[in-house]
Amino acid sequence: MISQKILGIEKANVGEIDELVSRIADEIGRRMLERTSQGRNLVLGLATGSTPIPLYAELVRRHREKGLSFQNVVTFNLDEYEGLSPEHPKSYHSFMQEHLFNQVDIQPKNTFLPLGTYEKPFDEARSYEEKIKAHGGIDLQILGIGRDGHIGFNEPGSSNRTRTRRVILANETREDAAPAFGGIQNVPTHAMTMGVGTILEARRIILMAWGAGKREIVAEAMSGDVSADVPATFLQDRLNTAWYLDGAAAGD
Ligand code: PGA
Repeated sequence: MISQKILGIEKANVGEIDELVSRIADEIGRRMLERTSQGRNLVLGLATGSTPIPLYAELVRRHREKGLSFQNVVTFNLDEYEGLSPEHPKSYHSFMQEHLFNQVDIQPKNTFLPLGTYEKPFDEARSYEEKIKAHGGIDLQILGIGRDGHIGFNEPGSSNRTRTRRVILANETREDAAPAFGGIQNVPTHAMTMGVGTILEARRIILMAWGAGKREIVAEAMSGDVSADVPATFLQDRLNTAWYLDGAAAGD
């Protein structure tokens, strides 16, 4: 494990995925215990996609083998595809059930995701923001990064003032999702996502990126001009953000 100052902007944690994920799980576990001892909930912001899968696997392992309890954890996911019901196998609701919620002792009433089958997107978006507020805001937000620099489904053009809303998915994002959907024609064109502004309000942010395919966008996110062209650049301004990169994503 090398912890190094790369690109002169932020300290990034660079190492093997297993080791990095274990450190992130340590932090999450520590915060969970701290809140339990205070009789309070910990509010986690969660992500989907391939990036967080090893982290969720590690949390599940710690639940099974070390008794890490999620009884006092409340979760808010970043996004959901438009038109997919919670039961749809490709929905992010299903993803979360499979990779985390079904395998730990989290209370179902404490798990929140935007609904993809909204009739009134504005109402769904506002109600999601209100729920986050009612739970005291997000303590720790887990993020991946898209090849186009998106965080959540905040595609290029999303300002740091955006809130939860209905968005159009970028072509690159739909192409990346195509294999899972059996072709790009099956990938939803829209989604409901937390906004960049919503994400930036989290008290602590952990962004993970694995693999050479993320190298270029990680460099841009960490050292490029802060701009809505690459929404992840807004994280540069947030000192509470930790970047966790495997060697391939960190590059030189
Ligand atoms: P991935 O997606 O984890 O599947 O690479 C990341 C993202 O789009 O945020």
